[in-house]
This record gives sequence, structure tokens and C-alpha cells, in this order.
Amino acid sequence: MIIVIEGIDGSGKTTQARLLFERIARAGCKVALLIEPTVGVYGKIIRDKIKSGNYSPMELYELFLRDRKLNARNIRKLLDLGYIVILDRYYISTIAYQGAQGIPISRILMDHSEFPIPDVVIILDVDPETALKRLKRKDTFENKEFLEQVRTIYLRMPEILRELKIEIRIINANRDPEIISEDMWNIVRNLIKCRDKE
Ligand code: TYD
Repeated sequence: MIIVIEGIDGSGKTTQARLLFERIARAGCKVALLIEPTVGVYGKIIRDKIKSGNYSPMELYELFLRDRKLNARNIRKLLDLGYIVILDRYYISTIAYQGAQGIPISRILMDHSEFPIPDVVIILDVDPETALKRLKRKDTFENKEFLEQVRTIYLRMPEILRELKIEIRIINANRDPEIISEDMWNIVRNLIKCRDKE
């Protein structure tokens, strides 16, 4: 099973992905947590480019594809070993961010047709103003107008991904982290079979 956590910068994804990981592990399941951009060679190039702003949207898009192709190998291996895989960002981010940068969403979907399909996508929805207040450093993506556009695409995700039959949940992430974590666990606990259910 693949569970993807998504949301704009500052939505609290990384904290929530960690909390969900701990809950699933406690429930007795084998679970792995992976992040994108990855910690590999392409991930590093991507982070440097986003920080500097020195790239074309198409060049950045292609780097994400390369990074993800390598990551997909790890995902497949983990799935074969019986792990539940949590992804802190996946191609849903590419649809939202690179879509907002003008790459056609139909092309993004086509280029990802051979990638493992998520079972559940949880989108942490927060208004960009709140999200920006949470961020210490700001890179080139982290401005209100751009994040508004990214958010708009995230909110359209049920329609964009309709044919893939993915369980998509959009949750209000303007609330306390503990409450959000509880919500996420309630979504996930019914979908997994672990040794001893919490
Ligand atoms: P990262 O350094 O992991 O920060 P965060 O913890 O805020 O996610 O993220 C890198 C940035 O990359 C983030 O602003 C979102 C963006 N991104 C894309 O534009 N497309 C993608 O496909 C992915 C995975 C991330």
C-alpha cells in the first residue's frame, strides 16, 4: 500500500508524515517513509535550483521525473517486501507545482502512467498566508500568489485523478497538529491490516 501526504509548503506535511509513520509502526505494520525530492543526486540538484530560481520550468520538471524514476525502484522493492510506503510528496506535487508553472497537466499524467499508483492521497489544505508564517526560510516557490495557484490545483485533484480510482482526502490543516494526526489515523487505520490494531 502507498500512502501519499501532500500540501503546499508550510502545510505541516513532514510532521504529519512522521506521526503517521509512528502510528502505523506501533500498530505492528512494516512501514517506510520516503521523501521527494529525494536525498539522492537529483534531489540535491532540484533543491539547489529551487533555492536559486535559476532554471526553466521544463528543466525542473525533467529533473523531478529523473529523481522519481530512481525513487520508484525503491518504492517497488519496499512494496514487494510487504512494507506500507508513506511518501512525503509524490507526482501529485508535480501536478500541482509544475502545473502551476505551466507544464500541461495532461502531459504530467501521461509521463507518470508507468509509476506505482498511490492507494491513498491525503492533502493537507491550509491557506497560503498561514503556511508562509510557519516557514522560516523562503525559497522561490514560497510566495503567496504562487502558493495560491498550487493550492487551487490541489483542490481540483479529485477531478484530475478521477480515472485512477485513488482514495483522495482533503483535510483542514489549519488546526492543531494532534487533531490533524488523529484525522489521518482514522482514515488510514481502516485501510491497513496490522498485527495488533491500536
Ligand atoms: P522540500 O525541500 O522537500 O521542502 P518541503 O518540506 O517544503 O516539501 O521541497 C522542495 C520543493 O519542491 C517544495 O517547494 C515543493 C517542490 N516540488 C515540486 O515543485 N514538484 C515536485 O514534484 C515535488 C516532489 C516537489
